[in-house]
Amino acid sequence: MPPLLRLRGVESCYGRFVALKNVSLVVPHGSVVALLGPNGVGKTTLLRTVSGMMKPTAGEIWFDGVRIDGSPDHAIARAGLAHIPEGRGIFPGLSVAENLQMAAMAGDGPAQLERAYGLFPVLGQRRAQQAGTLSGGEQQMLSLARAIVTKPRLLMVDELSLGLAPRIVAQLFATLQDIRSEGTSILLVEQYVRYALRLADFVVIMQKGRIAFIGESGELQHDGRLVEAYLGGTQAATVDQNGSNAAATSDARPTRKRPGPRAASRRSSRA
Ligand SMILES: Nc1ncnc2c1ncn2[C@@H]1O[C@H](COP(=O)(O)OP(=O)(O)O)[C@@H](O)[C@H]1O
Ligand SMILES: [Mg+2]
Repeated sequence: MPPLLRLRGVESCYGRFVALKNVSLVVPHGSVVALLGPNGVGKTTLLRTVSGMMKPTAGEIWFDGVRIDGSPDHAIARAGLAHIPEGRGIFPGLSVAENLQMAAMAGDGPAQLERAYGLFPVLGQRRAQQAGTLSGGEQQMLSLARAIVTKPRLLMVDELSLGLAPRIVAQLFATLQDIRSEGTSILLVEQYVRYALRLADFVVIMQKGRIAFIGESGELQHDGRLVEAYLGGTQAATVDQNGSNAAATSDARPTRKRPGPRAASRRSSRA
């Protein structure tokens, strides 16, 4: 059986700037893969390239044995690949219910809506509320709910936790665990390295557009030197077991002094 997702020698560019260089990786069926690395190394570009928002300039992308590079993004989504983009993939002017109904049209309807409200009771209570007036955490729950009502086989999540309080992040990760146990594979870009390592089976670390490390998450969990070597000092001191220390960041200059707990929300956003 082929892996659920396979990238082989993928290159992706913004104009003449090569953002992904010879990227090869697999996401096996039923697994969670964490994609880690400092700011600007190409993690978002990789997800955009897989979901068809960007067309790779070289290489191949296979989804469950079918070649998808070059396919339009809606066809890739219909094949069972959901992408929650960086920032929030919701319609702020529509209600919670309308946001979910729009997403569910691509999947199999009302049963999935009830499943989403079951996973996120707060969204059920706020069905009629305009999505843009939800809290940041609730908006991320809605973007996650919008992705899962399509019953994806692979869910790609780009920095779900950005700017959220540790308590909310813990809740979102618990939901990712539920989604995973229902059989959805996950490719996760995340700055909270310890949460990511606990959820993931495999870890892919990127540096400057290339894959620098692929291994089992246990290798990194039990070897702080590996985390230090690939992700730098700031990454080594991420969230503790209770999620109470939010000194986690994907800082591009990891040798600087460790940022404070608000580091996540201070990060500037890019295009
Ligand atoms: N729309 C864009 N136009 C030009 N360059 C971009 C664009 N988006 C990202 N880049 C560049 O591509 C590289 C990878 O960016 P990105 O994939 O967003 O990294 P990450 O998600 O790992 O922080 C960075 O050097 C970034 O500046
Ligand atoms: Mg990014």
